[in-house]
Amino acid sequence: MKQILDLELKTSKIIAPAIGEEKGGYIPLPLRNLAPGEMVTFDVYLKVKAKKDPEPRFVLACPKNEVFKEEWFQKLKSLEIQWLYYLQEDEDRVLGYLDRSLEKVLPDETRKPEEKVTLLYDTTLITVRNFFCSEEIGASPQMFRALRLIDGMFDLMKGGVDFHKSILEIRRHDHVLYNHSLNVCFLGLAFISFLGWDAQKAQDFGLGAMLHDIGLIQLKPELVQKNATRTAVRTTDSHPAVGYKMLSAMPGIRREVKYMALQHHENGDGSGHPGGLKINAIDPWARVLRILDHYETLTGGNSHKRPKSSKEALKEMAALQEKNIFDLNYFMSFIKFIGKT
Ligand SMILES: [Fe+2]
Ligand SMILES: [Fe+2]
Repeated sequence: MKQILDLELKTSKIIAPAIGEEKGGYIPLPLRNLAPGEMVTFDVYLKVKAKKDPEPRFVLACPKNEVFKEEWFQKLKSLEIQWLYYLQEDEDRVLGYLDRSLEKVLPDETRKPEEKVTLLYDTTLITVRNFFCSEEIGASPQMFRALRLIDGMFDLMKGGVDFHKSILEIRRHDHVLYNHSLNVCFLGLAFISFLGWDAQKAQDFGLGAMLHDIGLIQLKPELVQKNATRTAVRTTDSHPAVGYKMLSAMPGIRREVKYMALQHHENGDGSGHPGGLKINAIDPWARVLRILDHYETLTGGNSHKRPKSSKEALKEMAALQEKNIFDLNYFMSFIKFIGKT
């Protein structure tokens, strides 16, 4: 049967880029996540708006259990159409598909490091979304998947600077809370790999970084919607304590991970919240996270503020450091780390 992708495509009618979740439960999936020439296990849609349409429509581009043709992939790529969609109800199938892709791509030495990092990043982003949106947050299959992806990422990080660089380059900012969580996690894994932490600590630290703002979900469910702003994320004061409580209810979570949620808005001079703790009273993992969180927020930008460059962000943070906001040793290492990437 002929599909829309077999026809001539008018790029003016294809809507991109996608931002967050769309009406009707359509969720954007980067084209780069599809393996050309392989069967897809979920329905793949294209977002289209012809002149006569009052609203964009989602058109089935490749039905599940059909091969996503190489020529379709190349056509979309050459037209610079980077986004396709799947239905939310298919999310488990999408994650299964991406898992299988990762199993093939990660050990393949002919694939470029950027390709591996990108696929891991995108898969983890969907995992975080799935994790945050589920009714039972922290259920063991999700936790297991998140830890496996963190492990995979840390393994790649050990490959060196190329991977660190890719992380900074591929960060996406289309969905504030998930992207922020994931960016802090990946940036954190790159940083602690630079610091020489071992794999077990990295797995736990990565999880804490990924979940540090989880309290926001309970406090402000609207933040998991697509239009949430970073300002809203930053000025919500009780999310550290709520997050700590949520993590404490999950089995097997290490003490430091819970403290990452509780203390990531503490400042070394005692001006932070919720405890107003001085630097020595703040858990070292939370001190590391404080730096990553701040840097990611500055360089991520939002719809109101342009993202700052690494240089600008570090300069702004250095000014804050005059008041001893961050842990001095970690901050100095972080400057070295960013300078190397
Ligand atoms: Fe936070
Ligand atoms: Fe945060």
